[in-house]
Amino acid sequence: MADLQEHFDRTIARDQRVEPRDWMPDGYRGTMIRQIAQHAHSEIIGMQPEGAWITRAPSLRRKAILLAKVQDEAGHGLYLYSAAETLGTDRAELTGKLIEGRQKYSSIFNYPTLSYADVGVIGWLVDGAAICNQVPLCRSSYGPYARAMIRICKEESFHQRQGYELLMTMMAGTPAQRDMVQDAVDRWWWPSLMMFGPPDHASPNTERSMAWKIKRHTNDELRQRFVDMTVPQAEALGVTLPDPGLRWNPERGHHDFGPIDWSELQRVISGNGPCNAERMAVRRAAHEDGAWVREAAAAYARKTRDGEAA
Ligand SMILES: [Fe+2]
Ligand SMILES: [Fe+2]
Repeated sequence: MADLQEHFDRTIARDQRVEPRDWMPDGYRGTMIRQIAQHAHSEIIGMQPEGAWITRAPSLRRKAILLAKVQDEAGHGLYLYSAAETLGTDRAELTGKLIEGRQKYSSIFNYPTLSYADVGVIGWLVDGAAICNQVPLCRSSYGPYARAMIRICKEESFHQRQGYELLMTMMAGTPAQRDMVQDAVDRWWWPSLMMFGPPDHASPNTERSMAWKIKRHTNDELRQRFVDMTVPQAEALGVTLPDPGLRWNPERGHHDFGPIDWSELQRVISGNGPCNAERMAVRRAAHEDGAWVREAAAAYARKTRDGEAA
């Protein structure tokens, strides 16, 4: 046992990858399962706010882009459930936990999408924040998760670009279109900053995840990186970020920003955001509607097995 622990510690210290066949501490396995499951659930639930606009896309081109994006998110969910399976859990079990409310998904997807500008702002800010979070995860210590993240990040950068391009187009349009963009930015800015999780001093798992090299940067470091990256993009776009405290601090070499309303994050995480009930109801209904597909797949698998045995 001491040997196994020592081997694990050495693997982490040398920046090598932990693989499914390797021994790992129960705490590491549990943390990985929780993180990957939460990530997978977020990809799947995250299809809803934008998916709602597919039938109302303003042009064939926009519809094709949005369809591709939403399908990418389904793919991300599936890679991640597969990565979780390598840790000895399975997708049906994780889906069950999500539906019973025993596992979480990112609180950002509990906000409504009120206009087509929201599709652009989600791509720009929400996928942008996801990229800040996920690029360092390509070097996460658990092999299957890190490898899944490489492809996911490539697709996320397409998501961010299509959002920004959509917003550029709207900002070159009518005053009403520019107002729609500004309104969407006003609504999504603060929830996007909350995507990085609670501040470091209130994030109990950060220290251990950093020691295990599951996480490479703290929540506050990543949030700062996102703000610094986004401010010049907002200027180029011609929108205002809704924070009077936002300004460049030459001493720190970073932008300062105003206080985040953490009680809002708490409220949304605990199930009382604007769309929590709707998101869960839609997910539950999709699961029930899909029962016949799972039954048919299982029947086919049985038939194939019986055929091979005979
Ligand atoms: Fe994604
Ligand atoms: Fe995405």
